[in-house]
Amino acid sequence: MKILILNGPNLNLLGTREPDVYGHDTLDDLATGLREAFPAHDLSFFQSNHEGQLIDRLHAAPEEGVDAIVFNPGAFTHTSVALRDAVAAIMVPVIEVHLSNVHAREAFRQKSLIAPVCVGQITGLGMTGYHLAVRYFSDLS
Ligand code: DQA
Repeated sequence: MKILILNGPNLNLLGTREPDVYGHDTLDDLATGLREAFPAHDLSFFQSNHEGQLIDRLHAAPEEGVDAIVFNPGAFTHTSVALRDAVAAIMVPVIEVHLSNVHAREAFRQKSLIAPVCVGQITGLGMTGYHLAVRYFSDLS
């Protein structure tokens, strides 16, 4: 199964960014852990701080043969109609993941524009959330 792990703005700073909120693991640690846990799957990883690049990557997913997407849209979760529309436009299932529990934080983080067009949302479980999302898709295959 071909699964894209897509990460949005500021997630390139994982490891040093607010470690009390997001932990000490880096995006490279995430990729290593997922590849070790799911060797049978074709996992690809993309991070961007730019909304348009994330949209382009979502649009490209069907023609690239991507079967499923695990997406942490970062702060765009709470603001981006364009990313929501891109998720809704493609026939590839998406799970929204957040490291922190967005529902236990500031009011502006408690609204996701993207979750309603996703299969589901996993929030507050740290990097385990990405593993659970891949496990969900894996169990479907
Ligand atoms: C986040 C939560 C967002 O509110 C925040 O803007 C992020 C990270 C998370 O993974 O907990 O950048 O998506």
